Amino acid sequence: MIVRISRFDPDKDAVPHVETYDVHVASGAHVLNVLDMVRDKFDPTLGYRCCCRAGQCGSCAIRVNGKPVLACTEEARDGDLIESLELPSIQDLITDVTQVVAQIAWLNPRAASLSCGCGVTHETIEEIKPLRECIECYSCVSSCPAYAVSEYAVPTVMRQEQRLNLDPRDVDDRIGEAIARGLFACTSCHKCVEVCPKKIDIPRKAVEKLRIEAAKRGLSLPAHMELARLVEETGRSIERKSTSFLEYVPDVIEPEGEVRATIGFFVGCMFNGRVNQSALDAIEVFRKNGIRVLIPKDQVCCGSPLIRTGLSNFVPELMQRNIAAFVNAGVDTVFTMCAGCGSTLKKDYDTPFRVADITEYLCEVGFVPPTKIAGTYTYHDPCHLLRGQGISKQPRELLRSFVEKFVDMPAHCCGAGGGVKSGFPDEAASIGAVRAEMVAATGADFIVTICPFCEYHLRRVTGLPVKNIATLMLEGYLK
Ligand code: SF4
Ligand code: SF4
Ligand code: FES
Repeated sequence: MIVRISRFDPDKDAVPHVETYDVHVASGAHVLNVLDMVRDKFDPTLGYRCCCRAGQCGSCAIRVNGKPVLACTEEARDGDLIESLELPSIQDLITDVTQVVAQIAWLNPRAASLSCGCGVTHETIEEIKPLRECIECYSCVSSCPAYAVSEYAVPTVMRQEQRLNLDPRDVDDRIGEAIARGLFACTSCHKCVEVCPKKIDIPRKAVEKLRIEAAKRGLSLPAHMELARLVEETGRSIERKSTSFLEYVPDVIEPEGEVRATIGFFVGCMFNGRVNQSALDAIEVFRKNGIRVLIPKDQVCCGSPLIRTGLSNFVPELMQRNIAAFVNAGVDTVFTMCAGCGSTLKKDYDTPFRVADITEYLCEVGFVPPTKIAGTYTYHDPCHLLRGQGISKQPRELLRSFVEKFVDMPAHCCGAGGGVKSGFPDEAASIGAVRAEMVAATGADFIVTICPFCEYHLRRVTGLPVKNIATLMLEGYLK
């Protein structure tokens, strides 16, 4: 196979360059075998790390075709581009992690005495277990959008803070430490989970838990507390400016022609209070596809902004009200058109009905292809749709069916999530600027997405028109 390897000699090179090697390895060989082969046959100076060769030590983490992986477990393929993690390079594939390691809290609980008698319960051990599985590969560090632009102390630091916070023998102030290290800078994008070889859910099992503890001590960000107050008082996270969507529409909207299916609509705060038109467009899309839409009026905020920021006291009530609203409506499937609502209903709720994203549902039941729409379009994956719900193919399938030209781009957080836009607008803007460069590289005239928060933020950071997928489909139908 032909492989390309990023080479960097600090004594000679200003920047890394790529060299190509033609290697002969057995089928099923791992990337580490390829690196061994290149070192043995072509260049003994090739720098890379490895130790256990069995996915246990984390030392061999690199990027293959842009994706962080363990070289010892990743199957090598013809044409692979092998690079170091996106961290300062020492030589070739070896990165300097000393800055990161220095920030990780010392492993042992700093107890007055380990024999103090404050026993660790079985429940605590079970809670700590997933946080202990880190093999210090630092793939999460190299992929975290918050770390790339801010003082955020990296995902695995938060993992360790929560691990020690759970340990009753530990006497240090882990909450204070986590806040000082940027606890509220995490955007909840879940990129760290995607790249982690041990699939440690740092945003949910560490960041959100630490934020709950911070909230108990009154240490939440003022902007987040204000939002929580609004939800408790109004049932909504968006201040109402005029007639809301729920006040405006009837409870049942019949389709054009024969009824093929019936679905409930979980509206979400942004569509209810601020961008009503996109929600009205979605209903029209369903009408044109023979789908009856039921809209229970007593639905409220899904609770996502509260859960993500740790201010979750009021969430059980929101859950109970939303579940009751759709159960009373008698629907067996509910659709969302906000990635955050969809991910929250699917992952944080235990609903007696099925929840589906609008694109997921339309691809499943089938849709009348809209008339072709002129222009070049790209698609921004909302993190809560891509990693929260595992949906990436359906929006692309829809778009490809009716836009004149579709240019794909790799996923990257826009910076609007996790309460970062309200808490740290400068960080949100910096992450957005990275995304804006990726959008510019596609040459697209329009961005399409399925999250009203991404939509707002992308419009601001790119200056391009950003369209909701339902609005664009309707444009095609009305053409
Ligand atoms: S969820 Fe995203 S921002 Fe938060 S720690 Fe993980 S990679 Fe970083
Ligand atoms: S949390 Fe996962 S990705 Fe991050 S250093 Fe540990 S094992 Fe690697
Ligand atoms: S060499 Fe230890 S994880 Fe790959």
